[in-house]
Amino acid sequence: MEIVILPDGAAVGAAAAARIAAVVQRKPEAVLGLATGSSPLGAYAALADLVARGEVDLSRTSAFALDEYVGVPPESPLSYAATIAHDATGPLGLDPARVRTPDGNAADLEAACSAYEAAIAAAGGVDVQLLGIGANGHIGFNEPTSSFASRTRIKTLAPRTREDNARFFGGDLDAVPMHCITQGLGTILDARQLLLVAQGESKAAAVAAAVEGPLTAMVPGSALQLHRTAVVLLDEAAASKL
Ligand code: GLP
Repeated sequence: MEIVILPDGAAVGAAAAARIAAVVQRKPEAVLGLATGSSPLGAYAALADLVARGEVDLSRTSAFALDEYVGVPPESPLSYAATIAHDATGPLGLDPARVRTPDGNAADLEAACSAYEAAIAAAGGVDVQLLGIGANGHIGFNEPTSSFASRTRIKTLAPRTREDNARFFGGDLDAVPMHCITQGLGTILDARQLLLVAQGESKAAAVAAAVEGPLTAMVPGSALQLHRTAVVLLDEAAASKL
């Protein structure tokens, strides 16, 4: 695992963007793994700058999001489909037809999970997967106790995650969905490169547990230790417990 400690969040975003751009410059039809949350926003902004300057072109690049809430319609701004469209697809100049999120509104959710796995495989697998980490160590929505071998599936959100995400639902905890679809840890580990970004003191304990702690299902982020090309980009606050 490569750990890079940078002075601030802007530097983390710039470093992540540079690594993603390098992948796409080598392979314009690359497959990106996209993440939601506040952590990757700096990376998207820095990558959008590179696109605007003509240094990289993502129009032939495909992308798969990590996760989606169950029961939030895609047209709702709270859905991860809408979040990815707003934060990534538009600013990065990705072709919306090549960007997918799991279908959290499918009549048959299990079939939607299998279809998502099949679509990733049909695209040739993910070349570079951007990841944030939850305060409880989750990646995607793989909450503590997730199997390292897990694939895309329906999960129940941990109380801590629902509390953390209530801010997006007007602070109303009852409005936060109970379930989600998430790529599994096994799915994520199949990506050819992992790029985890974390900023701020609130992530320091989760980062330390994931990077330096034992491999444990109680810290899903510790699965990164099993990957041969995992890069962890941290600001000084997120690195403060290493
Ligand atoms: C969310 C997402 C994760 C994200 C994490 C941290 O629940 N499902 O993919 O990494 O929580 O979010 P943030 O970056 O806003 O702290």
